[in-house]
Amino acid sequence: MEVEPLKIMISGAPASGKGTQCEFIKSKYGLVHIAAGDLLRAEIASGSENGKRAKEYMEKGELVPDEIVVMMVKHRLIEMDVQENGWLLDGYPRSVSQATALEELHIRPDLFILLDVSEEILVERVVGRRLDPVTGKIYHLKYSPPQNEEIAARLTQRFDDTEEKVKLRLVTYHKNLESVLSIYNDVIVEVDGNLPKEEVFERIDSILSSLRQKKLKTESIS
Ligand code: AP5
Repeated sequence: MEVEPLKIMISGAPASGKGTQCEFIKSKYGLVHIAAGDLLRAEIASGSENGKRAKEYMEKGELVPDEIVVMMVKHRLIEMDVQENGWLLDGYPRSVSQATALEELHIRPDLFILLDVSEEILVERVVGRRLDPVTGKIYHLKYSPPQNEEIAARLTQRFDDTEEKVKLRLVTYHKNLESVLSIYNDVIVEVDGNLPKEEVFERIDSILSSLRQKKLKTESIS
């Protein structure tokens, strides 16, 4: 029997491990990963006017204006692969206006995962994060080091991954958090993100498999 695909939002402070957990979730549950930050970095890389404007805000750790972000995410959410496989929305919505834009389209998640990580750990994760431009894989110099010298030599660092900038990003995050949470009160689950990434995923995995079971039961009754 066909089960309606899962619809998941994942939120948390900068470098709380959203992208890392999305990789695990995507490979086990086949959901389409839509990361607002990645869409924006692709826009910057394209050299467009929107990309140039977005970068100015990202440099300051502020939210990029809705007229750039909202359309970008909305367009992605209505594509066929997302409709068929379900979605995993990472770093979106980050403000009431973004959440309201989704509500107006009757787009609501089955679950809103909130990764909870202490500030000290967040700074260490940001400063040590590296990206592989060839595979898109996320590394950490201490916690997930590259497998060989060849990969190590090509790793890059994000322009907003400095201690100074992550502190600005954190201020923005805390300013908006409560109001976004209030919209998803009934579906929020808080997960301890301080643990090693495999242990964080164990917890998320158990929540998602129960959710899938529940959906299956509900649909077989109706
Ligand atoms: P975005 O790209 O979304 O950045 P962020 O929210 O700051 O989150 P990160 O991508 O930095 O971290 P993450 O939680 O994915 O952690 P990761 O898994 O990489 O946004 C960037 C900017 O874009 C924003 O500041 C804003 O300007 C703009 N923007 C984005 N969305 C927007 C929106 N909706 N509206 C307006 N503007 C928007 O992990 C981090 C590191 O830690 C890695 O090195 C990883 O290997 C390591 N790690 C992960 N988990 C663990 C673990 N459990 N143990 C040890 N190490 C771990």
